[in-house]
Amino acid sequence: MLGRRVVEAARAGGYEVAALGRAECDLASAPSVRRAVGEHRPDAVINCAAWTDVDGAEEHEEGALAVNATGAGELAAAACALGARVVHVSTDYVFDGSKRSPWVEDDPVAPLGAYGRTKLAGERAVAAACADHAIVRTAWLFGAGGRNFVDTMLDLGAKREEVAVVSDQVGSPTWTGHLAPALVELAAAGATGIFHLAGGGSCSWHELCVAAYRHAGLSTRVEETTSARFVRPAPRPAYSVLGTERVESPRLPAWREGLAGHLAARAVAA
Ligand SMILES: NC(=O)c1ccc[n+]([C@@H]2O[C@H](COP(=O)([O-])OP(=O)(O)OC[C@H]3O[C@@H](n4cnc5c(N)ncnc54)[C@H](OP(=O)(O)O)[C@@H]3O)[C@@H](O)[C@H]2O)c1
Repeated sequence: MLGRRVVEAARAGGYEVAALGRAECDLASAPSVRRAVGEHRPDAVINCAAWTDVDGAEEHEEGALAVNATGAGELAAAACALGARVVHVSTDYVFDGSKRSPWVEDDPVAPLGAYGRTKLAGERAVAAACADHAIVRTAWLFGAGGRNFVDTMLDLGAKREEVAVVSDQVGSPTWTGHLAPALVELAAAGATGIFHLAGGGSCSWHELCVAAYRHAGLSTRVEETTSARFVRPAPRPAYSVLGTERVESPRLPAWREGLAGHLAARAVAA
């Protein structure tokens, strides 16, 4: 989902782009990663690939670790050996959700589940492998070209009169259309370290669903439910809103603007 949008943003920015999928650059295979980087000799690598099945990672942590940590580190090392800068995408799920104000870059990490643990290990592997890195934590992504909450709920809402959505998880919904150009900007910048890049403002999944239905003109009722009643294999942080203290960091527009942008793009594609 994000990768496609990054490719579009980089091409729109005038960059020559090699858009690699698993077939050309398998993060679970070090030789495949080294071959791909050696073939293309990029000036910068933006890694949007990951094991993103949060619930599946609970049962298959080794598999998730191979992609999200070992593979990410291999990619960073291969890029660094050729002098390339690395932009690596990470997640709000490195935090435990215990704060009630936005998480900033230096806040203590304590992932609740396997996915977050493997993504945190990835951050550390990338930082160790390549000094010229930007690790970008983002959150609650939605956009064209991949499974995401907004599209899932819009599809459900078109079929049902009522849905129930959790209101006790609060985060930073982020449109790939806003994040992608910011990643490209960071790839061309010089600042290193961790950056938090997410849609401005915050809301619960319930509020996000209500806003999406209102915007799309759906009259489906949205009941509130709780994480305790909607049990999933992986625990989710109760509060994972991302804020930034980095002056060099690009700022993204508010999540409501992102939602409007996504729904407008959906309408054009329909
Ligand atoms: N979605 C969110 O809400 C969210 C929130 C915070 C952070 N993030 C992070 O944002 C990034 C992009 O997420 P997304 O939502 O765009 O994910 P996505 O749609 O699931 O895309 C992930 C991509 O990674 C590829 N991939 C998986 N294993 C691979 C491997 N071994 N080698 C090469 N490619 C592999 C997948 O390829 P296949 O199609 O072949 O499986 C897929 O194209 C990830 O780093 C994710 O952790 C996502």
